[in-house]
Amino acid sequence: MYRSHSCGELNASAINKEVTLSGWVQKIRDKGFMIWVDLRDRYGITQLIFDEQRTPKEVMEKAKTLGREFVIQVTGNVIERESKNPAMPTGDIEIVAQDITILNEALVPPFTIEDETDGGEDIRMKYRYLDIRRNPVKNSLMFRHQVGMKVRNYLSEQGFIEVETPYLIKSTPEGARDFLVPSRMNEGQFYALPQSPQTFKQLLMVGGMDKYFQIVKCFRDEDLRADRQPEFTQIDCEMAFVEQEDILQIFEGLTKHLLQDIKGVSVDTFPRMTYDEAMRTYGNDKPDIRFGMKFGELNGVAQHKEFKVFNTAELVVGIAVPGAASFTRKEIDKLIDWVKRPQVGALGMVYVKCNEDGTYKSSVDKFYDQEDLAKWAAATGAQPGDLICVLSGPTNKTRAQLSALRMELAERLELRNPEEFAPLWVVDFPLLEWDEDTARFHAMHHPFTSPKPEDIPLLDTDPGAVRANAYDLVLNGNEIGGGSIRIHDKETQALMFKHLGFTPEEAKEQFGFLLDAFQYGAPPHGGIAFGFDRLVSILGGQETIRDFIAFPKNNSGRDVMIDAPATIDAAQLKEIHIQLDV
Ligand code: AMO
Repeated sequence: MYRSHSCGELNASAINKEVTLSGWVQKIRDKGFMIWVDLRDRYGITQLIFDEQRTPKEVMEKAKTLGREFVIQVTGNVIERESKNPAMPTGDIEIVAQDITILNEALVPPFTIEDETDGGEDIRMKYRYLDIRRNPVKNSLMFRHQVGMKVRNYLSEQGFIEVETPYLIKSTPEGARDFLVPSRMNEGQFYALPQSPQTFKQLLMVGGMDKYFQIVKCFRDEDLRADRQPEFTQIDCEMAFVEQEDILQIFEGLTKHLLQDIKGVSVDTFPRMTYDEAMRTYGNDKPDIRFGMKFGELNGVAQHKEFKVFNTAELVVGIAVPGAASFTRKEIDKLIDWVKRPQVGALGMVYVKCNEDGTYKSSVDKFYDQEDLAKWAAATGAQPGDLICVLSGPTNKTRAQLSALRMELAERLELRNPEEFAPLWVVDFPLLEWDEDTARFHAMHHPFTSPKPEDIPLLDTDPGAVRANAYDLVLNGNEIGGGSIRIHDKETQALMFKHLGFTPEEAKEQFGFLLDAFQYGAPPHGGIAFGFDRLVSILGGQETIRDFIAFPKNNSGRDVMIDAPATIDAAQLKEIHIQLDV
């Protein structure tokens, strides 16, 4: 038996007991006649004491050879500590060692295994197994497990059945590129790894499963960001005989349950905002509504003077930044530089300081008088002491730029409190999105999403205006889930494929199985998928999903620990019928 107890559980009630512990050497203090060792495992740390007076000589000798991160087994007696440490659950006791076995030696770790480590991101990723020994990473993984359990339990109690769907499938269009897997047995043919189990969960509805869920890996070959990994996990769900309202209710229920159970936060009914409103008031389809700074459109009050920049702009729009009238000229210049960075792309920024005495001082005083500026303040909701920042230009671009500025300022002004949770539904997404590069419409969510029935006639006349029965769940400025009511009849699905530019032959080749299935009694159905990594990280108070994934990829999509992706040898390539031009 390696251990009688874990390193986190002994306290005063165990005094005088003989115990055996196993774990890693966290810290050694060697005074010669006395050696203290902190022994660590997943459950905590227990102090061991090797003492010339009370520890056998050969055990003492062995203790002198220990190094950090050695794996040892120690048997000894629990005694009361002289200087107690109330900050530690095991702080009242220590173990006087009687026996020791060195189970494995360890090289000196390349960074300290402490909560605050001296190791940078790269080295910690290369030695991720050591990083996982650190509390912050270990706790994040344990937190993820907890959230996963709660999701499984909740959905199971609601009658959902977890069904596994295949990973080797045919490409499904979800907007990203597929990861492809060559087939050895079918020369020249490829599987795709699923971007999501979308078509399978719909087929499960045709199969009568009624309520399905799966905590499932998805794969997308897309550019990476803090909230994106090439392989990530969804809580994927689908239900039959439901309308949008049913789905919103059920998954609002799940989200509320998690917030209550995990964070002790109770949230009332989630607000709902149409996509149009989100874009108009926040310039973003995943607005962070924990703070204000709502957009005020200024076309009506800013295009009547000689200021050409505004007069020629499609949109003039501003936000009132609370308390920022006190920004110095230098700070404002820096902000202007920030919006002009290529990542944001604004050509400039107009500002108005709302003075405490009710007067205004703007960068365009030459064109606008106090009366004009008061109207701007009214439109943006600015109070004395605020700074109004105004951008102008093509509508979509300008909204995106002001949204980026709003988020940046919220970050700087510390308005994004990670312990505050503000979920909302964004509904009525457009069905189609114009893609400049390919010069055609793409499905904004995916091609299986149903249009709002009353908008179907617009498909022929104004496709961009057709709204979908699609919704996103947004939490603190992050899209944590998205879904839709699906098309469940062959005709509408064929119509949709036609509008997406598929010929009937192409549609049949790619999605014949689904169109076929729709002819055998497909029930009305719909669903949603949560980004599990995102959900966990936001509940955990952070926005970088990497921290909640045991073995994540870096920004270039590499696993630097196992060094993947990697080249493969010629024989393996030949087997899968691939020839590389070298
Ligand atoms: P969607 O593409 O919106 O919908 O994805 C659902 C949720 O998955 C998360 N997500 C990601 N998380 C981490 N890394 C990524 N690369 C990544 N991509 C997406 C987001 C997102 O909201 N089949 C549909 C769902 C449905 O219609 O039911 C789908 O996959 O949090």
